[in-house]
Amino acid sequence: MDKANVWLVTGASKGMGLSLVKKLLQNGYRVAATTRNIQNLTDSTKRFQDSNFLPLEVDLTDTISVQQAFKKTVAHFGSIDVLVNNAGYGIGGAVEELSEVEIKNSFNVNVMAVIKTMQSVMPYFRQQRSGRIINVSSIAGFAPAAGWAMYAATKYAVMGLSEVMAEDVKEYGVKVTVVAPGAFRTAFLAEESLVFASDKIDGYKLIRESHEKYAGMNGKQNGNPEKLAEVFIKLSEDPNPPLRLYLGSDAYNRAKEKINLLSQELENNKELSFYTDFE
Ligand SMILES: NC(=O)c1ccc[n+]([C@@H]2O[C@H](COP(=O)([O-])OP(=O)(O)OC[C@H]3O[C@@H](n4cnc5c(N)ncnc54)[C@H](OP(=O)(O)O)[C@@H]3O)[C@@H](O)[C@H]2O)c1
Repeated sequence: MDKANVWLVTGASKGMGLSLVKKLLQNGYRVAATTRNIQNLTDSTKRFQDSNFLPLEVDLTDTISVQQAFKKTVAHFGSIDVLVNNAGYGIGGAVEELSEVEIKNSFNVNVMAVIKTMQSVMPYFRQQRSGRIINVSSIAGFAPAAGWAMYAATKYAVMGLSEVMAEDVKEYGVKVTVVAPGAFRTAFLAEESLVFASDKIDGYKLIRESHEKYAGMNGKQNGNPEKLAEVFIKLSEDPNPPLRLYLGSDAYNRAKEKINLLSQELENNKELSFYTDFE
């Protein structure tokens, strides 16, 4: 991939998205960056629209708004080469505590927006017979923690979607990577970002303890978003990028533990698995 390449990054006013956009611009890439609030984005990047940078106010839950973002990107830069689905947020609570609206909102941002951007970019990628998609899932999309069932559901969805998408778009020269970060030092665990069930039920001790544990990690996470941004650029240059990439030693260790558990579970129940076949 050369530096003339055009990236579109969603959720760019803070955290990983902001680190990535800044790193890309420093390295001479051309970048369209989406945000819910353009003022926040230009404040945090300290940059306005120019020949290399296109800040876009986009409602990722609105199909037309998403489609327009891609039209504007191609009109501004002449092409699009890399899509990064970064925007997302954590949602905590017992399944029975979360309201339908809270659940739908989280799926709209964490899952439906990923689908909408991929639907919008594919006509361009198919025509040019190349393109890269990097979807940000989470270690919660493979080895989830107590208290975050709905967040896990959204991030598992991103995993499954990406795995099949990678196969489906291969014939057009499009490469898909799904990234599963562990805890990274962004605004993710800050009060302003996390959403919790507004109607709490007394009890659910394990869930409250888990939420406290995560809130207590805010600002001390081991993952460095600057290094994550470097890895994303490397991925875009890799002729054979991995389909799944676990980022952070915590993500690696949790994934490894889960794989061991899955292998054990599979073998322990092999008899039952085979039992349901016709003779
Ligand atoms: N940090 C971690 O520990 C961690 C671990 C695993 C996975 N992740 C995933 O990494 C991605 C980036 O998170 P981050 O750590 O950088 O968190 P962050 O600092 O809170 O940034 C999240 C970004 O997502 C966008 N966003 C948040 N809520 C949104 C909503 N309701 N509608 C539209 N956009 C929304 C925001 O974009 P604007 O405000 O600019 O619109 C923001 O820039 C997310 O998908 C998250 O699930 C993070």
